[in-house]
Amino acid sequence: MSQEKWSIRLIRIASIFGLIGTVLGSHMAGAGSYAFRPVHAHILLVGWLSMFAWGAFYKMFKVRAKKLVTFHGWTAIIGSIGLTAGMWFQFIQPFGVNKTFSLIFYIVGGSILLISFALFIFVTFFIEKDGKR
Ligand code: HEM
Ligand code: HEM
Repeated sequence: MSQEKWSIRLIRIASIFGLIGTVLGSHMAGAGSYAFRPVHAHILLVGWLSMFAWGAFYKMFKVRAKKLVTFHGWTAIIGSIGLTAGMWFQFIQPFGVNKTFSLIFYIVGGSILLISFALFIFVTFFIEKDGKR
C-alpha cells in the first residue's frame, strides 16, 4: 500500500467521523441531553482531527519505513473506531450490551489507539533526508 493511498484513506475515514460527530453534536443540542458528550468529543478529536492530521502528514512527508506506515495506519483506524465505539458501549450501554463485553471493547480499543499514537512518533523520525516527498 503506497503512502499516497494511506493519505487519502485516512482522510476519507476522517470525513466520515466528521459527519457522525457533528450529527451527534446536533442531536445533543436538539435533545438537550449531553450524554453523548465524551463520544461526540472523541469522534471529532480523534476520528476527525487526528485522523485528518495523519492523512495530511503522509501527503507532506515521504516515510522510509513502509511497514511502519501500514502498521500505524491500521492501528489508527482500528483504534479510533475501537475507542469511540467502546466508549459508546461503555457510557451509553446501548441495546443492553453486556457490561464485560463493553469494558473489554473500550480498553482494547483505547489501547490500540495508544499504540497508534506511539508508533506515529517513530514515523516522524523515519522520513526521507530532505524531509520532502
Ligand atoms: C454540528 C456541529 C456541532 C454541534 C451542534 C456540537 C454540539 C455540542 C454540544 C451540545 C456539546 C456539549 C456542550 C456542553 O457540555 O455544554 C459539545 C461538546 C463538545 N464538542 Fe461539539 N458540536 C459540534 C461540532 C463539534 C466539532 C466540529 C468539534 C471538534 C472538532 C467539537 C468538539 C467538541 C468537544 C471537544 C466537546 C466537549 C467539550 C467539553 O469537554 O466541555 N464539536 N458539542
Ligand atoms: C486511549 C485514548 C483515550 C482514552 C481512553 C480517553 C478517555 C477519556 C475519558 C474517560 C474522558 C472523560 C469522559 C467523561 O466522563 O466525560 C475523556 C475526556 C476527554 N478526552 Fe479523551 N481519551 C483518549 C484519547 C483522547 C485524545 C487522543 C483526545 C484528543 C485528541 C482526547 C480528548 C478528550 C477531551 C477533549 C475530553 C473532554 C471531553 C468531554 O468533556 O466529554 N482524548 N477521555
